[in-house]
Amino acid sequence: MDNREENRHKPHCLVLPFPIQGHINPMLQFSKRLSHKGIRITLAATKHLFKTTQQFSGSISVETISDGFDEGKADVDLDPYLARFEQVGTETLSELLDKLRDSGRPVDCVIYDPFLPWAVVVAKKHGLVGAAFFTQSSSVNSIYYNVYKGQLKVPLLDKEIAVAGLPLLEISDVPSFVRDQDSHPGSFELVLNQFRNVEEADFVFVNSFYELEEEVTDLMAKILPVKTIGPTTPSMYLDKRLTEDKDYDLSIFKPVNSCMKWLEERTNKSVIYVSFGSMAKLEGEQMEELALGLKMTNKYFLWVVRSSEESKLPKSFVQETQEKGLIVSWCPQLEVLAHDAIGCFITHCGWNSTLEALSLGVPMVAVPWWSDQSTNAKLVMDVWKMGIRARPDVKDIVGREEIVRCIKHVMEGEEGNEVRKNAKKWRELARKAVDEGGSSDRNIQEFLSTLESIAPK
Ligand code: UDX
Repeated sequence: MDNREENRHKPHCLVLPFPIQGHINPMLQFSKRLSHKGIRITLAATKHLFKTTQQFSGSISVETISDGFDEGKADVDLDPYLARFEQVGTETLSELLDKLRDSGRPVDCVIYDPFLPWAVVVAKKHGLVGAAFFTQSSSVNSIYYNVYKGQLKVPLLDKEIAVAGLPLLEISDVPSFVRDQDSHPGSFELVLNQFRNVEEADFVFVNSFYELEEEVTDLMAKILPVKTIGPTTPSMYLDKRLTEDKDYDLSIFKPVNSCMKWLEERTNKSVIYVSFGSMAKLEGEQMEELALGLKMTNKYFLWVVRSSEESKLPKSFVQETQEKGLIVSWCPQLEVLAHDAIGCFITHCGWNSTLEALSLGVPMVAVPWWSDQSTNAKLVMDVWKMGIRARPDVKDIVGREEIVRCIKHVMEGEEGNEVRKNAKKWRELARKAVDEGGSSDRNIQEFLSTLESIAPK
């Protein structure tokens, strides 16, 4: 690199995630890709997040803003939390942008989570490029957009719901906040409000890849400057172009790494991996049915049960299944999914977990809990055909027999072969999308060219 090259102003992006794990991880990963391509990145973390996370990536500088709850928000409801975040966040984000400018590190672009739709207004007031980063799928975004625009009327009255670019949906396939707005009115508003001010954004990034959701992405791209840039699964599990990128570098929970040794002792594709992500709180009865289903299969299983969920396990289940099962409070999920011993993934279909399973070619048994997960489950089963959605009973519980049936479906026989074949196909397509010249790589490149053309030389 000659001196001129070194002294050139690198475009600088300030990245503002919503402070929960499932939203921070994809934005950090995207940041790493940008940083690898020569963009300077500063992460704007809330003061509380900064204080409480286990670790932050070395390659990205971190500055703080405030959500108004620097000591933690305890049990503050979503509505007042968001209102205060908007008020204090607007002010402190603005101050941070001024501070960075005054200290010779001016920002060119704010990449914000649309859960914080006021951020683009701040960016525009500062004369900057604004880019929304949607952490969920194009399909789910499109459903929310249709509701936001009043094109899909709620409450949903029809048995089948038609959304352009998507297969016909049953009510149970629709995101839970739309299916039942009264269950979480704050969250319903939050997901629709992602489109507030979005017309001010110069870019709308989606953590997905074009080949995965072609039709709906094309339709959304006619309305908004949508660019798929994912999956944001660490590069070493996909294209391997970022040799340091093996992990998310940020973990709210502490992983129990000893489960990797346990997996080493298991044969190829023999283990069921079970995890419901960072937030799900299962009914006691659901935990029990799942536990008994796992026991009935007589297969090996690795189950992530967060400490807060542990008391729901049936009494003496751990002792009774210790020959076959390992229960941990958190695990290095990517390493686990990439391990040859894993034969299937019982998942809540959080979007990150779904993308990780797609990226690593692991067949899924979908047991969605809330939010976008039911739509993801529908696509996994009926569109991508790399798993099965477990059918709940009238009480909305997936029973033990159903668990056993689904595990057999993805791990055994002709159907299992088919699912595995498709899983392999998606793995390859995901890799290609982020690799040089792939659909996501080209979109990132286009963004870079725009930033380079506006950044002062
Ligand atoms: C939330 C929502 O629930 C989800 O529907 C939405 O799409 C994103 O935000 P969460 O429930 O935590 O996220 O699920 P998910 O999106 O799957 O994210 C979980 C993350 O935690 C994944 O990246 C996964 O690899 C990681 N994880 C999970 C671990 O590292 N270890 C574990 O033991 C379990």
